[in-house]
Amino acid sequence: MYLILLSVLLGAILTLYSVLSASSYSDKSSRSHTTPREIVQLLGYSSSSSITQHLHSRALANQRLRRAFRLTNTFVSDEVEVHDAFVGRMNELIRGQSRLGSAKQWMTFLQVSRRAVSSELNSFIDPSSSSSSGYAFAEFIQIVTLKIIIAGFLDPNRDIDELDAEGLRVSATLIMKLWTLSKTAHWSSIDSSESELTTLNEHLCRLLPDREMYPDPINFVIPTWETLWRLVATCIARIYKDVPYRDVFRNFLDEPTYQRFGPSNSRSRADDTDISDLCASWIINETLRLHPPSKHISRSFVVGKPFILQFMISFTPRCIAGWLKLEGDASSPQIRSQVADVEKVHLSTDIWGPNALDFEPRRWRSLNDRRDRTPTLFAFGDGPLMCVGKKWAPMAAALMIAAIFEGFEAEGLDIEGTSTIGGRAGWDGWRISRV
Ligand code: HEM
Ligand SMILES: *[C@@H]1O[C@H](CO)[C@@H](O)[C@H](O)[C@H]1NC(C)=O
Repeated sequence: MYLILLSVLLGAILTLYSVLSASSYSDKSSRSHTTPREIVQLLGYSSSSSITQHLHSRALANQRLRRAFRLTNTFVSDEVEVHDAFVGRMNELIRGQSRLGSAKQWMTFLQVSRRAVSSELNSFIDPSSSSSSGYAFAEFIQIVTLKIIIAGFLDPNRDIDELDAEGLRVSATLIMKLWTLSKTAHWSSIDSSESELTTLNEHLCRLLPDREMYPDPINFVIPTWETLWRLVATCIARIYKDVPYRDVFRNFLDEPTYQRFGPSNSRSRADDTDISDLCASWIINETLRLHPPSKHISRSFVVGKPFILQFMISFTPRCIAGWLKLEGDASSPQIRSQVADVEKVHLSTDIWGPNALDFEPRRWRSLNDRRDRTPTLFAFGDGPLMCVGKKWAPMAAALMIAAIFEGFEAEGLDIEGTSTIGGRAGWDGWRISRV
């Protein structure tokens, strides 16, 4: 008698509890972090997580990406050794470049960029190899930037002309295709793209033949190229009609240094003229703000029911537990994802003012004078897993952009765009054609 009463009482408590906790424990949907403070809390150093916990929650969030590309790099691994080795290798590549001395390094990078642009434009201009209707803009940017990433960064000893045109084209197309699949498709169709992945890997292995350095090139190509091509494409799309902005990049070619990239100190000098108050770095930052290549940065966590609840359930008679539907999910963990909504912060009028949606590079002039140092640009993430290319990539992108405009002007080509700027996809109607 007492036992039954006790069970009923216990059942009532459990029912109440599961109703109350339903919203937080059985909810598989993600939680968004939409303010700088929240994003810093999730990704930043201020969170109490150790590096292992950060890596674990990132790896869990990136499972679909791992599956789609069979990645093994730090973006999908929770091992600190994998992280340190990968980040170390990337830093070496960046440092290796500056061994030459910063100025020489960027001059060399510019030369590679110019050659990549002109060789690609040559095949475009060659009437036998392309249609008269012009060249798709996004495809051109993808191929040129992939060439430059390979011959100007990952394998600096490589001769650009050795890079197989078909291999570049197929690699770019397949990476974009598999990426889209990883975002949208069901697991089974991700796995059914196996043969495309094999083709992709064969091409990448030919493009990056040093197996000792790059046992599995996809691990290196994706983090470097997949974001960079979109920064280059969106920046060009934003400014191609604006002569003053194009001039900033043209003038940058005279002196491709970090110093020239950033704002000039001569701002205060009254005798300085016209465009000297603009710099490529502001234009790049403004592009990263309006078109962050990573719009959302996710972390996933395994959550279980609180221990006390599991404990109680284990003592509830089975028939009652079954009736309350408490059995299965009592101990089975659920995955909860936390998303840093980078795009939301980047477009917030509270942060950037009423003109938050406008492309206004000059807003960066005063931004660095702010007192409050809470970051507001999260294009490169934040905290211990922040992008190692955050200083290198903006400068590299600026030089690619300058070389591309220079190439177009030399060949009498220009861009025909629409009012919609694409991202990974969405570049329909964007073409390169004769002026
Ligand atoms: C515009 C271009 C780029 C953007 C927008 C970008 C963005 C990002 C973001 C948002 C993260 C953080 C991911 C997370 O917290 O889960 C990241 C990490 C990383 N990025 Fe980039 N990236 C760019 C270019 C590059 C380049 C060129 C390199 C290579 C030099 C690079 C190497 C890395 C590496 C190694 C990490 C992982 C760092 C770590 O785990 O500690 N990225 N990137
Ligand atoms: C661009 O943004 C970065 C933050 O990612 C900041 O450190 C840098 O100072 C900005 N550049 C300029 C010129 O304001």
